[in-house]
Amino acid sequence: MFKLPPMKKIIIFASGSGSNAERIATYFHQKGTAQVSLILCNNPQAGVLTRAKRLAIPSLVFNRQAFYESDIVLNVLKSQHPDLIVLAGFLWKVPAYLTEAYPHKIINIHPSLLPKYGGKGMYGSHVHEAIIANAEKESGITIHYVNEHYDEGNIIFQAKTTVLPTDTPDTLAEKIHLLEYEYFPKVIEEILV
Ligand code: GRF
Repeated sequence: MFKLPPMKKIIIFASGSGSNAERIATYFHQKGTAQVSLILCNNPQAGVLTRAKRLAIPSLVFNRQAFYESDIVLNVLKSQHPDLIVLAGFLWKVPAYLTEAYPHKIINIHPSLLPKYGGKGMYGSHVHEAIIANAEKESGITIHYVNEHYDEGNIIFQAKTTVLPTDTPDTLAEKIHLLEYEYFPKVIEEILV
């Protein structure tokens, strides 16, 4: 009798549309090697919650007080025994109690080539607007470990794309999303091995 390797568990934190969360969930659903077992979200209006429902993935919404002043989120995570915690468009700073409980187990994706265009205030369209305003010739994605400082954990992976003079923040965001969809699941897969 041979034994199947245990299914790896991924927990995703997201604040917005959740297209990366969906991409990761469907990628591993097809592969059968891991599953997104829970989506945690700080915004009750976020599109990621609709996606979670459609994909039959449990989700949990928490507020600022629960996240920063209670053990609720930590206890939920502990009960799930995640192999990896993935921030996919999650906008709140991760508190030290989480980075301490899960060293090298929390990763984030950032829509620029860090250390450029990272740090406080540099998220979503703000990043793309700044890159266009500065007439940068290239941008890209960075997947990195999360520590207690915004966008400063060790870099795991980067991929680049060209920024054309005709690009707008919206067209650049589309290019970045395509890179994210292509590489984020694969990088997660490599980390999980
Ligand atoms: C992504 O571009 C990610 O890099 C950034 O926020 C965006 C989230 O998009 N941090 P989505 O919610 O996955 O569609």
